[in-house]
Amino acid sequence: MQKPDELILEDGALQHRSIFWDEAIYEQELKHIFARAWLFLTHESLIPNPGDYNTTRMGEDNVIVIRQDDGSIRAFINSCRHRGNTVCHADAGNTQRFTCTYHGWAYDRTGALVGVPLEKESWFGTLDKARWGLRPVAQVASYKGLVFGTFDAGAPPLEDYLGDMRWYVDSFLDVPGGIELIGPPMKSILNCNWKTPTENFGGDDYHFGWTHAAGVAVIGGPLQGLSGNVPLPPEVGFQVGSKYGHCFGFIEQAAAGLQMLDEWRAEYAKWLAERTPIMEQRVGALRTRLYNGHWNASFFPNCSFLYGTSTFKVWQPRGPRQLEVYTWTLVEKEMPQALKDILHRSNIAAFGTAGMLESDDGENFEECTQTNRGYMTRQDYYYTGMGVGHEGPRADMPGVVSEVLMAETGIRNFYRSWARMMRGTPWQDVDVAATAPLARLRSV
Ligand code: FES
Ligand SMILES: [Fe+2]
Repeated sequence: MQKPDELILEDGALQHRSIFWDEAIYEQELKHIFARAWLFLTHESLIPNPGDYNTTRMGEDNVIVIRQDDGSIRAFINSCRHRGNTVCHADAGNTQRFTCTYHGWAYDRTGALVGVPLEKESWFGTLDKARWGLRPVAQVASYKGLVFGTFDAGAPPLEDYLGDMRWYVDSFLDVPGGIELIGPPMKSILNCNWKTPTENFGGDDYHFGWTHAAGVAVIGGPLQGLSGNVPLPPEVGFQVGSKYGHCFGFIEQAAAGLQMLDEWRAEYAKWLAERTPIMEQRVGALRTRLYNGHWNASFFPNCSFLYGTSTFKVWQPRGPRQLEVYTWTLVEKEMPQALKDILHRSNIAAFGTAGMLESDDGENFEECTQTNRGYMTRQDYYYTGMGVGHEGPRADMPGVVSEVLMAETGIRNFYRSWARMMRGTPWQDVDVAATAPLARLRSV
C-alpha cells in the first residue's frame, strides 16, 4: 500500500488512485476529514420555525438538524441511545418529539430524553434520563443563512474555516434579503468517489466546453460560448484556491460574448441589472462583477454550488466508490416568485437527477472511479498540473488566483488541504496560506 505521505505529491498535482478506491483510506477520511471539518447541513430558510427540522448526513453519520425554541439551530446524531434505531425517518417536518419506533423512547427538540415506556415498572425508576439524550453535534453555526456543523469541538469557528472564501461569497450572500435554497433537495446516487465531483465543481473549468459541448449549446445561457473548447481571452475568468481547500472558478459575464442570450434568461439578466447599483453600494465594484458573473465552486470537503446557474449540492459519501448527491436551487429571497420558478426549473433541467449536464458529468465521474477496479490500473497517479507556475497572490483579491480560467489551481488546492487533514495535522497547521508547499508541513 502507498505510504500516507505519497498519496498526494507535487503540491497537489499528483493524486494516487488508491484514494478513490481504497476502503482503509476511506475510513481515514471519515475520521480525519468528516469527523473534523465543518460540513454543510441546511439553509436557515428551510427550517424557519421552532421545531422545523431536516435530516441529513455528516460523512456516514445520519443527523437531525432542528430549529430550537429560542431560534438557534442544533444538530444530533439520528440514532436512538437505547439500541441504536433511527429516531427520525422523515426528510423534513416540524415536531415536538422524536419517538423511536423500536421501544418508544422519546426525545424533545433539545435532544433530551423525555419519555421512556415502563420507566417505573421495568426500569424501577433507576434510568438516568439526563445521561441518555441524543448525541449532539459539537458545533453548529450559520454563515449568512448557510448552516454548517462539525463533530470537532476544537475546530476553528466557522468564519475562520470559511476564511478567504467569505470575501468572495459575500458578493451574493450580501444581497438585500439574503439568499434561500429551494427544497426539498433532489437526491440521486452516483457510483463515484465523493472527491471527484467536489474538486470538479471547484477547479475543473477545463471539462466544461468538452464534456458539456452538446448540452450547453442546447441549454444556452451564460456558458454557451464555452461549447467545444473555444479558446478564451485570459480576462474572461480565473480560479481561486483559498485556505482549508475551498476553491472556485469565475467567468466574467460580459467577456467573450458570454452574455445571457436566450429568452428565458432575460428575466434573470433584468434582475441582475436592477440589483447591480445596489450591490455596488454594498460590496463594491469588483465584487459586483462577481455578483454578475458565473461561478463553479466548492466548500471543502463536499459542498458545491454554481452561482449564476443556481445549483447547490452536497456530495454525501457512501463508501469510497459511491455517493448520494442532494441538489437544491439557489435563489435570492427577494426575487419575484416567477423568476425563482424559472431558475428552479432550469436547475432541475440541467443539474437535477435527470438533468442534461448532470448526466454528462455523472458518466465521467463514475468511470474515473470505476476504472480503478483494475489492480494494475490503480497503482498510478492522476495528474492535474495545468497552470502550475501561473498562479499566485493578487493585490485586489485574497487566496491563490490563476492567470487564466482554464487551470487546475482549485483542484491542487483541494488536494493540498485533503493531504494536510489526512495526516491528522493540528488545526493551526492546516490553517496555513494556501500557497504553502506540502513539504513544509509536519507529518504526524
Ligand atoms: S432502540 Fe430506540 S427505544 Fe429501543
Ligand atoms: Fe460538469
